[in-house]
Amino acid sequence: MEMRQWEQSGLKTSIFGIGCMRLPLQAGQTDSARIDEAKAIRMIRAGIDGGVTYIDTAYPYHGGNSELVVGKALQDGYRERVFLATKLPVWEVKSADDFDRLLNQQLEKLQTDHVDFYLLHALHQGTWGKVRDLGVLEFLDRAKADGRIRYAAFSFHDQLPLFKEIIDSYAWDMCQIQLNILDVDYQAGLAGLEYAAARGIGVVVMEPLRGGALAAHVPADIQAVWDEASEQRSGVDWAFRWLANRPEVKVILSGVSTMEQLEDNLRIFADTKPGCLTAEDEARVDRVRALYQSKIQVDCTGCEYCLPCPSGVAIPAVFRAYNQAFMIEDLASGQSSYAWLVKNHEDASLCVECGACEQVCPQHIPIIAKLKDAHTYLG
Ligand SMILES: NC(=O)c1ccc[n+]([C@@H]2O[C@H](COP(=O)([O-])OP(=O)(O)OC[C@H]3O[C@@H](n4cnc5c(N)ncnc54)[C@H](OP(=O)(O)O)[C@@H]3O)[C@@H](O)[C@H]2O)c1
Repeated sequence: MEMRQWEQSGLKTSIFGIGCMRLPLQAGQTDSARIDEAKAIRMIRAGIDGGVTYIDTAYPYHGGNSELVVGKALQDGYRERVFLATKLPVWEVKSADDFDRLLNQQLEKLQTDHVDFYLLHALHQGTWGKVRDLGVLEFLDRAKADGRIRYAAFSFHDQLPLFKEIIDSYAWDMCQIQLNILDVDYQAGLAGLEYAAARGIGVVVMEPLRGGALAAHVPADIQAVWDEASEQRSGVDWAFRWLANRPEVKVILSGVSTMEQLEDNLRIFADTKPGCLTAEDEARVDRVRALYQSKIQVDCTGCEYCLPCPSGVAIPAVFRAYNQAFMIEDLASGQSSYAWLVKNHEDASLCVECGACEQVCPQHIPIIAKLKDAHTYLG
Protein backbone atom coordinates (compact mmCIF):
# COMPACT_ATOMS: atom_id res chain seq x y z
CA MET A 1 0.00 0.00 0.00
CA GLU A 2 1.26 3.46 -0.89
CA MET A 3 2.32 5.64 2.04
CA ARG A 4 1.76 9.34 1.39
CA GLN A 5 4.06 12.04 2.66
CA TRP A 6 2.47 15.10 4.28
CA GLU A 7 4.48 18.15 3.27
CA GLN A 8 3.90 20.34 6.34
CA SER A 9 4.10 17.88 9.20
CA GLY A 10 6.40 15.33 7.57
CA LEU A 11 4.00 12.49 8.39
CA LYS A 12 3.48 9.41 6.30
CA THR A 13 0.08 7.74 6.23
CA SER A 14 -1.44 4.92 4.21
CA ILE A 15 -3.53 6.18 1.31
CA PHE A 16 -6.44 3.98 2.50
CA GLY A 17 -7.93 4.89 5.87
CA ILE A 18 -10.75 2.94 7.49
CA GLY A 19 -13.84 5.02 8.27
CA CYS A 20 -15.68 3.56 11.26
CA MET A 21 -19.13 4.97 10.53
CA ARG A 22 -20.43 1.93 8.68
CA LEU A 23 -19.19 -1.01 10.74
CA PRO A 24 -21.00 -4.37 10.41
CA LEU A 25 -24.18 -4.72 12.48
CA GLN A 26 -25.42 -7.72 14.43
CA ALA A 27 -27.44 -10.16 12.31
CA GLY A 28 -30.91 -8.86 11.48
CA GLN A 29 -30.27 -5.43 13.02
CA THR A 30 -30.98 -2.11 11.32
CA ASP A 31 -30.22 -0.03 14.43
CA SER A 32 -26.73 1.33 13.71
CA ALA A 33 -25.86 1.26 17.44
CA ARG A 34 -25.89 -2.57 17.38
CA ILE A 35 -22.41 -3.18 15.99
CA ASP A 36 -21.26 -6.75 15.47
CA GLU A 37 -18.30 -6.11 17.71
CA ALA A 38 -16.32 -9.27 17.04
CA LYS A 39 -16.63 -8.87 13.29
CA ALA A 40 -15.82 -5.14 13.40
CA ILE A 41 -12.72 -5.74 15.51
CA ARG A 42 -11.57 -8.51 13.15
CA MET A 43 -12.05 -6.18 10.17
CA ILE A 44 -10.24 -3.20 11.68
CA ARG A 45 -7.32 -5.40 12.69
CA ALA A 46 -7.23 -7.13 9.29
CA GLY A 47 -7.06 -3.68 7.70
CA ILE A 48 -4.14 -2.68 9.88
CA ASP A 49 -2.40 -5.99 9.20
CA GLY A 50 -3.00 -5.25 5.50
CA GLY A 51 -1.16 -1.92 5.71
CA VAL A 52 -3.78 0.62 6.85
CA THR A 53 -2.28 3.17 9.26
CA TYR A 54 -5.20 5.58 9.59
CA ILE A 55 -8.44 4.95 11.51
CA ASP A 56 -11.28 7.48 11.55
CA THR A 57 -14.13 7.54 14.04
CA ALA A 58 -16.31 10.17 15.72
CA TYR A 59 -18.40 10.80 18.82
CA PRO A 60 -21.84 10.13 17.23
CA TYR A 61 -21.04 7.22 14.92
CA HIS A 62 -23.12 4.11 15.60
CA GLY A 63 -25.01 5.88 18.37
CA GLY A 64 -21.75 6.53 20.25
CA ASN A 65 -20.54 2.94 20.01
CA SER A 66 -18.01 3.37 17.21
CA GLU A 67 -15.43 4.96 19.52
CA LEU A 68 -15.92 2.14 22.05
CA VAL A 69 -15.41 -0.58 19.42
CA VAL A 70 -12.44 1.22 17.86
CA GLY A 71 -10.92 1.49 21.35
CA LYS A 72 -11.26 -2.28 21.75
CA ALA A 73 -9.94 -3.02 18.25
CA LEU A 74 -6.83 -0.98 18.96
CA GLN A 75 -5.82 -3.02 22.02
CA ASP A 76 -3.09 -5.70 21.82
CA GLY A 77 -0.56 -3.40 20.19
CA TYR A 78 -2.74 -2.08 17.35
CA ARG A 79 -3.02 1.46 18.77
CA GLU A 80 0.70 2.11 18.25
CA ARG A 81 0.45 1.10 14.59
CA VAL A 82 -2.07 3.73 13.51
CA PHE A 83 -2.95 7.38 13.39
CA LEU A 84 -6.23 7.62 15.27
CA ALA A 85 -8.69 10.35 14.31
CA THR A 86 -11.84 11.31 16.17
CA LYS A 87 -14.01 14.40 16.22
CA LEU A 88 -15.41 16.99 18.59
CA PRO A 89 -19.22 16.99 18.25
CA VAL A 90 -19.47 20.77 17.93
CA TRP A 91 -23.28 20.66 18.11
CA GLU A 92 -23.00 19.26 21.66
CA VAL A 93 -20.91 22.23 22.82
CA LYS A 94 -22.90 24.67 24.95
CA SER A 95 -20.06 26.31 26.90
CA ALA A 96 -16.25 26.38 26.80
CA ASP A 97 -16.10 23.72 29.55
CA ASP A 98 -17.60 21.21 27.13
CA PHE A 99 -14.42 21.11 25.00
CA ASP A 100 -12.36 19.39 27.69
CA ARG A 101 -15.26 17.33 29.00
CA LEU A 102 -15.98 15.82 25.57
CA LEU A 103 -12.35 15.18 24.62
CA ASN A 104 -11.63 13.50 27.96
CA GLN A 105 -14.73 11.32 27.60
CA GLN A 106 -13.60 10.33 24.09
CA LEU A 107 -10.08 9.44 25.25
CA GLU A 108 -11.63 7.18 27.87
CA LYS A 109 -13.90 5.45 25.34
CA LEU A 110 -11.00 5.01 22.94
CA GLN A 111 -8.76 3.65 25.76
CA THR A 112 -5.90 5.95 24.82
CA ASP A 113 -4.12 8.96 26.31
CA HIS A 114 -4.09 10.87 23.03
CA VAL A 115 -5.71 11.07 19.61
CA ASP A 116 -3.51 11.81 16.64
CA PHE A 117 -6.01 13.89 14.68
CA TYR A 118 -8.76 15.74 16.52
CA LEU A 119 -11.32 17.26 14.19
CA LEU A 120 -14.01 19.84 14.75
CA HIS A 121 -16.79 17.71 13.31
CA ALA A 122 -18.81 18.69 10.23
CA LEU A 123 -18.25 22.44 10.45
CA HIS A 124 -20.79 24.64 8.72
CA GLN A 125 -21.84 28.27 9.02
CA GLY A 126 -24.00 27.62 12.07
CA THR A 127 -21.45 25.74 14.16
CA TRP A 128 -18.17 27.40 13.14
CA GLY A 129 -19.03 30.85 14.54
CA LYS A 130 -20.35 29.35 17.77
CA VAL A 131 -17.30 27.25 18.65
CA ARG A 132 -14.82 29.88 17.43
CA ASP A 133 -16.45 32.45 19.73
CA LEU A 134 -16.38 29.98 22.62
CA GLY A 135 -12.59 29.66 22.19
CA VAL A 136 -12.22 26.36 20.36
CA LEU A 137 -8.95 27.41 18.71
CA GLU A 138 -7.37 28.20 22.10
CA PHE A 139 -8.67 24.84 23.34
CA LEU A 140 -6.97 23.07 20.40
CA ASP A 141 -3.70 24.85 21.24
CA ARG A 142 -4.00 23.71 24.88
CA ALA A 143 -4.87 20.13 24.01
CA LYS A 144 -1.91 19.98 21.64
CA ALA A 145 0.40 21.44 24.28
CA ASP A 146 -0.69 18.98 26.97
CA GLY A 147 -0.40 16.05 24.56
CA ARG A 148 -4.04 14.92 24.39
CA ILE A 149 -4.07 15.63 20.66
CA ARG A 150 -1.22 15.68 18.16
CA TYR A 151 -2.79 17.38 15.16
CA ALA A 152 -5.68 19.83 14.95
CA ALA A 153 -8.16 19.51 12.14
CA PHE A 154 -11.74 19.97 11.01
CA SER A 155 -14.22 18.23 8.77
CA PHE A 156 -16.42 20.32 6.57
CA HIS A 157 -19.92 20.38 5.07
CA ASP A 158 -20.72 23.81 3.66
CA GLN A 159 -19.83 26.11 0.79
CA LEU A 160 -16.36 26.93 -0.56
CA PRO A 161 -16.13 30.55 0.74
CA LEU A 162 -16.64 29.36 4.33
CA PHE A 163 -14.11 26.59 3.77
CA LYS A 164 -11.51 29.16 2.75
CA GLU A 165 -12.39 31.36 5.72
CA ILE A 166 -11.88 28.46 8.14
CA ILE A 167 -8.66 27.35 6.44
CA ASP A 168 -7.28 30.90 6.85
CA SER A 169 -8.33 31.18 10.51
CA TYR A 170 -5.86 28.81 12.16
CA ALA A 171 -2.69 26.77 11.64
CA TRP A 172 -4.58 23.58 10.82
CA ASP A 173 -2.69 20.35 10.34
CA MET A 174 -5.47 18.70 8.34
CA CYS A 175 -8.95 19.12 6.92
CA GLN A 176 -11.42 16.44 5.88
CA ILE A 177 -13.66 17.03 2.89
CA GLN A 178 -16.24 15.13 0.86
CA LEU A 179 -14.83 14.34 -2.56
CA ASN A 180 -15.60 11.69 -5.15
CA ILE A 181 -15.99 11.38 -8.91
CA LEU A 182 -19.40 13.07 -8.68
CA ASP A 183 -18.86 15.78 -6.06
CA VAL A 184 -16.15 17.83 -7.75
CA ASP A 185 -17.89 21.21 -7.42
CA TYR A 186 -19.87 20.43 -4.29
CA GLN A 187 -19.00 21.88 -0.85
CA ALA A 188 -15.19 22.31 -0.73
CA GLY A 189 -14.77 20.23 -3.89
CA LEU A 190 -11.66 20.14 -6.02
CA ALA A 191 -11.15 23.90 -5.52
CA GLY A 192 -11.06 23.34 -1.75
CA LEU A 193 -8.62 20.47 -2.13
CA GLU A 194 -6.24 22.71 -4.03
CA TYR A 195 -6.73 25.65 -1.65
CA ALA A 196 -5.85 23.60 1.43
CA ALA A 197 -2.99 21.76 -0.25
CA ALA A 198 -1.44 25.02 -1.48
CA ARG A 199 -1.19 26.06 2.19
CA GLY A 200 0.51 22.82 3.19
CA ILE A 201 -2.58 21.43 4.94
CA GLY A 202 -3.09 17.69 4.57
CA VAL A 203 -6.42 16.74 3.03
CA VAL A 204 -8.32 13.60 4.04
CA VAL A 205 -11.22 12.57 1.82
CA MET A 206 -14.51 11.19 3.08
CA GLU A 207 -17.39 9.58 1.17
CA PRO A 208 -15.20 8.51 -1.77
CA LEU A 209 -17.94 6.15 -3.00
CA ARG A 210 -20.64 8.68 -2.14
CA GLY A 211 -21.64 6.62 0.85
CA GLY A 212 -21.69 3.43 -1.24
CA ALA A 213 -23.90 4.71 -4.09
CA LEU A 214 -21.04 4.43 -6.57
CA ALA A 215 -20.53 0.81 -5.55
CA ALA A 216 -24.08 -0.46 -5.43
CA HIS A 217 -25.00 -1.26 -9.04
CA VAL A 218 -23.51 0.19 -12.16
CA PRO A 219 -26.16 1.01 -14.83
CA ALA A 220 -25.57 -0.43 -18.27
CA ASP A 221 -24.80 2.93 -19.95
CA ILE A 222 -22.18 3.73 -17.29
CA GLN A 223 -20.71 0.24 -17.40
CA ALA A 224 -20.40 0.63 -21.16
CA VAL A 225 -18.22 3.71 -20.64
CA TRP A 226 -16.03 1.89 -18.10
CA ASP A 227 -15.76 -1.06 -20.49
CA GLU A 228 -14.22 1.13 -23.18
CA ALA A 229 -11.03 1.29 -21.08
CA SER A 230 -8.22 -1.03 -22.04
CA GLU A 231 -7.97 -2.23 -18.42
CA GLN A 232 -11.19 -3.63 -16.92
CA ARG A 233 -11.94 -2.26 -13.43
CA SER A 234 -14.94 -2.12 -11.11
CA GLY A 235 -16.74 1.18 -10.41
CA VAL A 236 -15.24 1.09 -6.88
CA ASP A 237 -11.76 0.72 -8.36
CA TRP A 238 -12.30 3.68 -10.72
CA ALA A 239 -13.65 5.86 -7.91
CA PHE A 240 -10.71 5.19 -5.57
CA ARG A 241 -8.15 5.44 -8.36
CA TRP A 242 -9.50 8.83 -9.46
CA LEU A 243 -8.88 10.18 -5.94
CA ALA A 244 -5.52 8.46 -5.49
CA ASN A 245 -4.39 10.01 -8.77
CA ARG A 246 -4.35 13.37 -6.93
CA PRO A 247 -1.19 13.90 -4.86
CA GLU A 248 -2.97 16.54 -2.73
CA VAL A 249 -5.16 13.78 -1.24
CA LYS A 250 -3.31 12.24 1.72
CA VAL A 251 -5.85 9.69 2.97
CA ILE A 252 -8.96 8.22 1.33
CA LEU A 253 -11.40 7.10 4.02
CA SER A 254 -13.70 4.27 3.16
CA GLY A 255 -16.38 2.95 5.46
CA VAL A 256 -16.33 -0.80 4.99
CA SER A 257 -19.21 -2.93 6.23
CA THR A 258 -17.96 -6.40 5.27
CA MET A 259 -14.65 -8.25 5.25
CA GLU A 260 -15.03 -8.73 1.48
CA GLN A 261 -15.21 -4.96 0.96
CA LEU A 262 -12.14 -4.47 3.14
CA GLU A 263 -10.21 -7.06 1.16
CA ASP A 264 -11.35 -5.57 -2.14
CA ASN A 265 -10.23 -2.11 -1.04
CA LEU A 266 -6.87 -3.40 0.20
CA ARG A 267 -6.40 -5.03 -3.21
CA ILE A 268 -7.27 -1.80 -5.06
CA PHE A 269 -5.08 0.40 -2.87
CA ALA A 270 -2.13 -1.97 -3.31
CA ASP A 271 -1.86 -0.53 -6.80
CA THR A 272 -2.75 3.19 -6.69
CA LYS A 273 -0.50 6.22 -6.80
CA PRO A 274 -0.43 9.70 -8.37
CA GLY A 275 -0.25 9.14 -12.09
CA CYS A 276 -2.25 5.90 -11.95
CA LEU A 277 -4.81 7.34 -14.40
CA THR A 278 -4.14 8.68 -17.88
CA ALA A 279 -5.71 11.85 -19.33
CA GLU A 280 -7.95 9.52 -21.33
CA ASP A 281 -9.06 7.81 -18.09
CA GLU A 282 -9.82 11.21 -16.51
CA ALA A 283 -11.98 12.09 -19.53
CA ARG A 284 -13.80 8.77 -19.12
CA VAL A 285 -14.57 9.66 -15.49
CA ASP A 286 -15.97 13.02 -16.67
CA ARG A 287 -18.38 11.19 -18.97
CA VAL A 288 -19.46 8.83 -16.19
CA ARG A 289 -20.05 11.82 -13.89
CA ALA A 290 -22.37 13.42 -16.42
CA LEU A 291 -24.33 10.18 -16.78
CA TYR A 292 -24.74 9.68 -13.01
CA GLN A 293 -25.70 13.31 -12.48
CA SER A 294 -28.51 12.88 -14.94
CA LYS A 295 -30.02 10.04 -12.83
CA ILE A 296 -29.73 10.96 -9.10
CA GLN A 297 -32.91 12.34 -7.44
CA VAL A 298 -31.61 13.21 -3.93
CA ASP A 299 -28.00 14.08 -3.01
CA CYS A 300 -28.09 12.06 0.23
CA THR A 301 -24.83 10.37 1.23
CA GLY A 302 -26.35 8.40 4.12
CA CYS A 303 -24.30 10.16 6.83
CA GLU A 304 -27.32 9.85 9.21
CA TYR A 305 -26.87 13.30 10.74
CA CYS A 306 -30.66 13.68 10.26
CA LEU A 307 -31.34 10.78 12.62
CA PRO A 308 -33.11 10.07 14.86
CA CYS A 309 -36.17 11.51 13.15
CA PRO A 310 -38.76 12.37 15.84
CA SER A 311 -41.40 10.56 13.75
CA GLY A 312 -39.22 7.55 13.10
CA VAL A 313 -38.69 8.08 9.36
CA ALA A 314 -35.54 6.26 8.24
CA ILE A 315 -34.64 9.27 6.07
CA PRO A 316 -31.36 8.03 4.50
CA ALA A 317 -32.91 4.62 3.81
CA VAL A 318 -35.89 6.26 2.05
CA PHE A 319 -33.56 8.30 -0.17
CA ARG A 320 -31.34 5.34 -0.81
CA ALA A 321 -34.31 3.37 -2.11
CA TYR A 322 -35.47 6.37 -4.17
CA ASN A 323 -32.04 7.00 -5.73
CA GLN A 324 -31.50 3.30 -6.21
CA ALA A 325 -34.60 3.08 -8.39
CA PHE A 326 -33.25 5.81 -10.67
CA MET A 327 -29.51 5.23 -10.57
CA ILE A 328 -29.68 1.56 -11.32
CA GLU A 329 -32.80 2.05 -13.40
CA ASP A 330 -34.81 -0.56 -11.54
CA LEU A 331 -38.09 0.65 -10.02
CA ALA A 332 -38.92 -2.79 -8.60
CA SER A 333 -35.70 -2.88 -6.62
CA GLY A 334 -36.38 0.59 -5.13
CA GLN A 335 -39.98 -0.38 -4.35
CA SER A 336 -38.94 -3.58 -2.66
CA SER A 337 -36.49 -1.71 -0.39
CA TYR A 338 -39.19 0.85 0.36
CA ALA A 339 -41.81 -1.80 1.14
CA TRP A 340 -39.50 -3.05 3.85
CA LEU A 341 -39.42 0.45 5.41
CA VAL A 342 -43.22 0.63 5.26
CA LYS A 343 -43.42 -2.70 7.06
CA ASN A 344 -41.09 -1.39 9.79
CA HIS A 345 -43.02 1.91 10.16
CA GLU A 346 -40.01 3.90 8.97
CA ASP A 347 -41.33 5.18 5.63
CA ALA A 348 -41.73 8.75 4.36
CA SER A 349 -45.50 8.91 4.97
CA LEU A 350 -44.77 9.34 8.71
CA CYS A 351 -43.11 12.73 8.18
CA VAL A 352 -44.90 15.52 10.13
CA GLU A 353 -42.76 18.24 8.49
CA CYS A 354 -41.15 19.40 11.77
CA GLY A 355 -37.97 20.24 9.81
CA ALA A 356 -35.49 19.04 12.49
CA CYS A 357 -33.69 17.01 9.81
CA GLU A 358 -33.27 19.96 7.43
CA GLN A 359 -31.46 21.97 10.11
CA VAL A 360 -28.69 19.38 10.50
CA CYS A 361 -28.36 17.90 7.00
CA PRO A 362 -24.76 18.57 5.85
CA GLN A 363 -25.93 18.30 2.22
CA HIS A 364 -28.69 20.92 2.77
CA ILE A 365 -31.29 18.66 1.17
CA PRO A 366 -34.92 19.90 1.16
CA ILE A 367 -35.76 16.69 3.01
CA ILE A 368 -39.48 17.27 3.59
CA ALA A 369 -40.24 17.83 -0.10
CA LYS A 370 -37.98 14.99 -1.22
CA LEU A 371 -39.64 12.58 1.23
CA LYS A 372 -42.99 13.39 -0.36
CA ASP A 373 -41.57 12.79 -3.85
CA ALA A 374 -40.05 9.50 -2.75
CA HIS A 375 -43.31 8.31 -1.21
CA THR A 376 -45.30 9.24 -4.31
CA TYR A 377 -42.88 7.34 -6.50
CA LEU A 378 -42.20 4.27 -4.38
CA GLY A 379 -45.15 4.01 -2.02
N1 LIG B 1 -16.68 14.15 9.23
C1 LIG B 1 -17.78 14.02 8.57
O1 LIG B 1 -18.58 14.95 8.50
C2 LIG B 1 -18.04 12.70 7.91
C3 LIG B 1 -19.16 12.49 7.12
C4 LIG B 1 -19.27 11.29 6.48
C5 LIG B 1 -18.27 10.34 6.63
N2 LIG B 1 -17.19 10.55 7.41
C6 LIG B 1 -16.11 9.55 7.58
O2 LIG B 1 -15.62 9.19 6.31
C7 LIG B 1 -15.68 7.76 6.19
C8 LIG B 1 -15.85 7.41 4.74
O3 LIG B 1 -17.12 7.83 4.28
P1 LIG B 1 -18.12 6.73 3.79
O4 LIG B 1 -18.24 5.66 4.82
O5 LIG B 1 -19.34 7.45 3.35
O6 LIG B 1 -17.30 6.10 2.55
P2 LIG B 1 -17.76 5.51 1.17
O7 LIG B 1 -16.58 4.70 0.75
O8 LIG B 1 -18.25 6.57 0.27
O9 LIG B 1 -19.01 4.57 1.47
C9 LIG B 1 -18.86 3.44 2.26
C10 LIG B 1 -19.80 2.37 1.75
O10 LIG B 1 -19.38 1.99 0.43
C11 LIG B 1 -19.60 0.62 0.26
N3 LIG B 1 -18.30 -0.02 -0.05
C12 LIG B 1 -17.07 0.25 0.47
N4 LIG B 1 -16.12 -0.51 -0.14
C13 LIG B 1 -16.77 -1.28 -1.04
C14 LIG B 1 -16.35 -2.28 -1.97
N5 LIG B 1 -15.09 -2.63 -2.10
N6 LIG B 1 -17.30 -2.87 -2.74
C15 LIG B 1 -18.60 -2.53 -2.66
N7 LIG B 1 -19.05 -1.59 -1.79
C16 LIG B 1 -18.15 -0.97 -1.00
C17 LIG B 1 -20.24 0.10 1.53
O11 LIG B 1 -21.64 0.23 1.37
P3 LIG B 1 -22.67 -0.82 2.02
O12 LIG B 1 -22.47 -0.72 3.49
O13 LIG B 1 -23.99 -0.30 1.56
O14 LIG B 1 -22.32 -2.16 1.46
C18 LIG B 1 -19.75 1.09 2.55
O15 LIG B 1 -20.56 1.17 3.69
C19 LIG B 1 -16.84 7.37 7.09
O16 LIG B 1 -16.85 6.00 7.40
C20 LIG B 1 -16.57 8.27 8.25
O17 LIG B 1 -15.52 7.71 9.04
C21 LIG B 1 -17.06 11.72 8.02
